[in-house]
Formats: sequence, C-alpha cells, structure tokens
Amino acid sequence: MNVRTRVRGFVLLSATCLAVTSEARQPWITKRVVAHRGASSYAPEHTAAAYRLAISQGSDYVEQGLAVTKDGVLVCLHDDSLERTTNVEEVFPDRSSTDAAGRTQWLVADFTLGEIKQLDAGSWFHPKFAGERVLTWDEAVDLVWDKAGMFPELKAPALYRSRGIDIVALFASAVRRRDMDRPTPAGTMPRLRAQSFDEPAVRELALALPNIPRTFLLGRGARVERWLSSAEWVKEVALFSSDLSPTKAIVEAQPALVDWAHAAGLTVTPYTFRSGATGRFPDVEAEMRYFLYELGVDAVFTDNPDRFPRR
Ligand code: G3P
Repeated sequence: MNVRTRVRGFVLLSATCLAVTSEARQPWITKRVVAHRGASSYAPEHTAAAYRLAISQGSDYVEQGLAVTKDGVLVCLHDDSLERTTNVEEVFPDRSSTDAAGRTQWLVADFTLGEIKQLDAGSWFHPKFAGERVLTWDEAVDLVWDKAGMFPELKAPALYRSRGIDIVALFASAVRRRDMDRPTPAGTMPRLRAQSFDEPAVRELALALPNIPRTFLLGRGARVERWLSSAEWVKEVALFSSDLSPTKAIVEAQPALVDWAHAAGLTVTPYTFRSGATGRFPDVEAEMRYFLYELGVDAVFTDNPDRFPRR
C-alpha cells in the first residue's frame, strides 16, 4: 500500500468514525419487530399486500430489499433477478442472461421500470394475489412512511458497482429528496434504518446519511468465523454501524456476541424468524421469545410479525 492510499484510507476511516460518533446513538427503546419483506408468511414478499398486512399486524418496521432497474429506479425486491417472484420468464422469455455459475437469470438491472411494471409479482405465491406489482421505493414510502418505520436493505452493491451504478448514492438522494433523514428526537424510535451485507456500503451510508441508523448484516463465510472469535471485531463494527444483524444460528453458536455488541454500543437484530423453520422450538413465537428475553437481542426480522411476543 503506498503512502497516498494509506493517507486516503486514514481520512476515510476518520470521517466514518466522526460520522458515527456524532450520530445520536440510541438503544432500541423497547424490543422491536421488523416485518421481513413485509408480512411475507402470508402475502407475496415486497408487494403492497405484504406491506399493508405488516402494518395492520402492528409491525414497528417494514423491511424493503432494494434493487436498481436499467433506467436507475430503486425497486423493492429481495433477489437481484426477477424469476423467483414474478412471471418474467413468460413475459420476456428471450431476455435472460447467464451468471458465472451457468444459471439462467433475468436481472433487474437489465429491465426498465416500465417493463418490470408489466410483471405479476403475486401469482407465484397464491392466485388470490394475481396482479400485485413490483413496487418502487417511492411507492413503498407512500404506502408505509406515515404508518410504520422503514428498514431498507441495499442489495448487491458490488453487482451495481460493477455496472457503474452507485446504489448508496441513489438511495441517499432518494431519502434526502423526501426529507426522511431528519435527526430522530431523543427518546423516539428512528423511523428509518438502513442495512446491508456489504461492509463498504454500510461505511458509505455512515458518511452519506449520518442521521440514519445502520445495520450490518452478517451471513455465512470464512470472514464470519474469524469475526465471531473475538469481541475486538465487534468493536470495529461499532465504528461504522449502529446495529449488528447475524443469522439466528450465529447467535446460538456464540451467544456472547450479544453482550460484546451491547458493550460496544451496538444493538442486535437477528434474522429470520419464520413459522416454517423454527428448529427445536414448538412455534415461531416461542423461538422469538427465547432470542429476545433469554439471549437478550433487541429486535428480530420475522416473516410473522403477528406472532411477535411484546413481553
Ligand atoms: O435483512 C435481514 C435479513 O433479511 C437478511 O436476509 O435473505 O432477507 O436478505 P435476506
């Protein structure tokens, strides 16, 4: 690493630390429930139906996955591609590409918003949801913002970077345009939180939107193993994030992680609690209760927000 790179790294790190320490850090005021992809056990993920149901079930936050269309619009979708949750294969049979592993896919980034709006995003889940559409971020804000908190996840920032698209910048300008980044008054729940698995993206969010709490998602992989072995790494995360979101399995394998995170000033929000996969627990409510009140996590991502045990 040359001197110039080192100096640039130092300046970036210092700026990131400054942004985080100047943020009004707040613990979750009480245990919180995040409706994962909406109330996605009962309605097709990331559709208006799933978001409305999540609100009516009393969710503190409704989660949005964010992808970017060919014409640069943020849309709400979990996958980078459209085939799992829409009828894109029928509507655009000749528009697929092949990924590095040889899989056929219909990437969101290869379709304009106009094309994506022609797709049915509900029938795959159940015929009664036929006609549900992929929502734009702005449409999700119109639907959710004055009724529940929002918890967008920036999906695949590296994929978009490789195509010259800066998803963090796009998101930050969308948030600022609607004046959603005002500081949270002390003692109230932040109405907007942002999350990503991509560490550079979370660091960039700290600089672009310093008032918005950030969640660093932790999945599988060799890096996770190393990080899990030490409280020191958790302190490093606290330099750029406000909240740590590991899988349920990670928390169970290393319950000390919760104390390490709290000591570092981070909250903990594991994922994903769903009625179809509760492991050794009799039901999803019992599973969430154990993580919240025995292991001490602060919030949960769940497909079943109606089953959230408030106490
Ligand atoms: O966002 C938390 C959790 O949703 C991560 O899982 O698969 O929905 O991106 P996934």
